[in-house]
Amino acid sequence: MTFVRAVAPAKINLSLRVLGVRDDGYHELATVFHAVSLTDEVCVRPGTPGSGRRVSTSGDRAEGVPSGDANLASRAVRDLARVAGIGDGDAVIEIAKSIPVAAGMAGGSADAAAALVAARALWGLALSDEDLSEIAAGLGSDVPFALAGGTAQGTGRGEVLAPVLSSSSLHWVVAISDGELATPEVYAEWDRLVASGDVQPSAGVDDAALLAALRRGEAPDVAQHLVNDLEPAAISLRPSLARVLDAGRECGALAGLVSGSGPTCVFLATDREAAIALAAEISGLGLVRAVRYAHGPVPGARVVDRSH
Ligand code: C5P
Repeated sequence: MTFVRAVAPAKINLSLRVLGVRDDGYHELATVFHAVSLTDEVCVRPGTPGSGRRVSTSGDRAEGVPSGDANLASRAVRDLARVAGIGDGDAVIEIAKSIPVAAGMAGGSADAAAALVAARALWGLALSDEDLSEIAAGLGSDVPFALAGGTAQGTGRGEVLAPVLSSSSLHWVVAISDGELATPEVYAEWDRLVASGDVQPSAGVDDAALLAALRRGEAPDVAQHLVNDLEPAAISLRPSLARVLDAGRECGALAGLVSGSGPTCVFLATDREAAIALAAEISGLGLVRAVRYAHGPVPGARVVDRSH
C-alpha cells in the first residue's frame, strides 16, 4: 500500500465536571463528549527503513503544530508499531488541519486517532479497536474518544468511555478566538480558583437530565443542561471570552459555553438554518477570528481512502 488516509472529529464537552485533583496530577472528570463535524485528515505513507517519522502539517494556523515526536500523531504511529512488534514505525505523516489548534476541541487527539487507524490499515495489523483504544489512552486523555466518536460519557481522566444514545443531530456554531490556551494552564487556573475559594469542585455529579434530553433529541432541553467547570478558569485567563459568550446568547443561541479548556466557544441552535444564521451574525460582530457551523454526533476516526 502506498498510502492510507483517515479522518477524525473534533469534540465538544456537553458536560465537563472537575471532581478534584488526583495523586498523579491529573484531574478526575465526569464528562459527556460529543463528536462534531469539524475533522482533521491524516495521511500515512511508508517511510524509508530506519528513518523514523516525518510529519508535515497544512491548513489553518498549521505553523503552530509541532513536528517530530512532539506531535501526537507521530507518537501514535510509533506506539502502534511498538505494540505490534514491527519496530519504531518508519512513516511519512501528512496532517491537514481544519480543527483549530490548542483551542479546546481536541485537535491533536483527533490527529493521533486518525493516525492510529491509518497506520493499522497501512501495515495490515491484526489489532482490534480495543487494542487501539488502549494505545490511545496512553497518548492522551481525549484520544480514546476521538477513536470512538458519537456521544459518550467519559470518566477517569476522560479516557474511560461509555456510549450515550442520542436520537437526533445537534447544530452548533463554533466561534474560534485568536490565540491558544494550553490545557495544563487552564487546569492550573482551576486549581488556583479552588484554592482561593472562588470555585468549588463538582460533587455528586448526575448527568441523568442531560442524557434524557439527548435521548429525546430536543435541542432546547439539551441546552438547559450544558455545563463546563473549566469555563471560569478559561475566562479568568482570557476575560474577553465572557463577551463572546454574551454576544452569542444575545444573538439568539439556545446556550453557549466554552469548549473544553477553551478558548473556542460553542453555541447550540435549534436547527441547521438557525445555526447558519447565528454563525453569520456572530461573525459580523468581529469578536472572534473565525466562525464555523458544525453538527454532531458524527463517527470517530475512520479510513476514507487508500491506494494499493
Ligand atoms: O491527557 P493529556 O495529555 O491530553 O492532558 C494534557 C494536560 O491536561 C495534562 O498534562 C494535565 O495537565 C491536564 N489534564 C488534567 N486532567 C485531565 C486531563 C488533562 O489535569 N483529566
